[in-house]
Amino acid sequence: MRDPSRHLTYGRLACRRYFFIMKRLTALLLFAWATTLSANPLLGLPALEIPANNPQTPEKIALGKKLFNDVRFSSTGTISCASCHHSNNAFTDGQAKAIGIEGLVGKRNSPTLVNAAYLSSLFHDGRAASLEEQALEPLTNPVEHGLSDHAEILNVIRSDIDYLNGFLTTYGITVGKINIDHVTKAISSFERSLIAGNSRFDQYLFGSKRNALSVSEARGLRIFRRKANCANCHEISWDNALFTDNRFYNIGVSFDSLRAVLPEFLAQLEKSRTDAVASLNEQQKSELGRFAVTQQLKDIGVYKTPTLRNIALTAPYMHDGSFKTLREVVDYYDKGGKKNKFLNPAIFPLHLTEQEKDDLVAFMESLTSPEL
Ligand code: HEC
Ligand code: HEC
Repeated sequence: MRDPSRHLTYGRLACRRYFFIMKRLTALLLFAWATTLSANPLLGLPALEIPANNPQTPEKIALGKKLFNDVRFSSTGTISCASCHHSNNAFTDGQAKAIGIEGLVGKRNSPTLVNAAYLSSLFHDGRAASLEEQALEPLTNPVEHGLSDHAEILNVIRSDIDYLNGFLTTYGITVGKINIDHVTKAISSFERSLIAGNSRFDQYLFGSKRNALSVSEARGLRIFRRKANCANCHEISWDNALFTDNRFYNIGVSFDSLRAVLPEFLAQLEKSRTDAVASLNEQQKSELGRFAVTQQLKDIGVYKTPTLRNIALTAPYMHDGSFKTLREVVDYYDKGGKKNKFLNPAIFPLHLTEQEKDDLVAFMESLTSPEL
């Protein structure tokens, strides 16, 4: 006789096996999904817009890299773009202020080039509208490459068979046709290849890998977005994070160098802008920040929000390199910045605990991308 209870047991067994297999399969699928996400170097980044007149090609990127690293494009034969934007330091130089030809010191800190492809304006004060436009400036800057004009670059290129081949394969042009636009376009294409995403933070927030951040780092992310108000400017969107809103603010850094001369400067400004600016020394002129671009009072001491990606690799910090560590930066924000009449209202005392400061620093240190 058939035993109905045995039959039931078989049924239950088959059912259990079915669920077991399904569970395994789901786990496998989830694992595959997570690994594709964590292997994606673009994780956490928005789609990149490439200018229609300068498409990316492997040949152009390679040519740009060679131009970027070539010390012959300087009056002393010692300085290339890479001297101040070195790949070991996430394309910065480890100096407070940039050092160019003959040890001449510039007025500002060398910013990272990581994800510069996403910026809508370049330089701390945003005075260049594209990478192509930006690349023209350092070559003839008297304390950077120190060339008298761009013809000097073309002379080097025309005498180097490697370059002639490079320009031919990249643009299909021969020696007589090469001009400075081809040079800046290639350099810009190389810069647009310096993309940093897929940090542990990206894996945590956009890749659903909940253990990618430590408990302290994850707390730091929450503080960054809420209590400390950092994401107000160092933006994190719902599906990507550039850590910059591409906007400009006075957060008070280095304002002390203007404080003493400011009343006099503002009084003179009412009469003549040229005279007012001429009354300042070179460093003070530089500290006017975005004012130099817009001529608007509200832009005095105002700078672009920099990205925080790979920030652990780019000390010292701020446009003047005046902060040696991320902890110093956090302490500065905690106190509400340096008071001045142009200080942005989003900068105010934060009253962070020591633990919260540690968490913020730990969080920022999780923003380093494995690829760059
Ligand atoms: C002597 C050091 C030095 C050299 C050489 C140099 N730079 Fe820079 N670079 C800087 C400094 C300093 C700044 C910021 C200047 C400012 O904002 O006024 C800067 C800014 C930039 C920016 C803007 C980044 C941003 O976030 O806005 C780009 C892009 C850039 N440089 C690319 C280059 C290229 C390309 C070359 C070579 C053609 C080059 N640099 C050569 C020091 C240097
Ligand atoms: C009102 C907008 C704003 C807020 C809020 C803000 N920042 Fe900034 N941040 C900036 C600007 C602008 C700069 C560049 C200032 C300069 O160079 O003088 C900057 C610079 C930095 C730098 C240096 C980056 C570099 O490459 O040198 C770090 C680090 C930083 N901010 C972290 C934070 C943290 C952490 C918070 C929250 C506690 C925060 N920021 C809040 C706008 C802001």
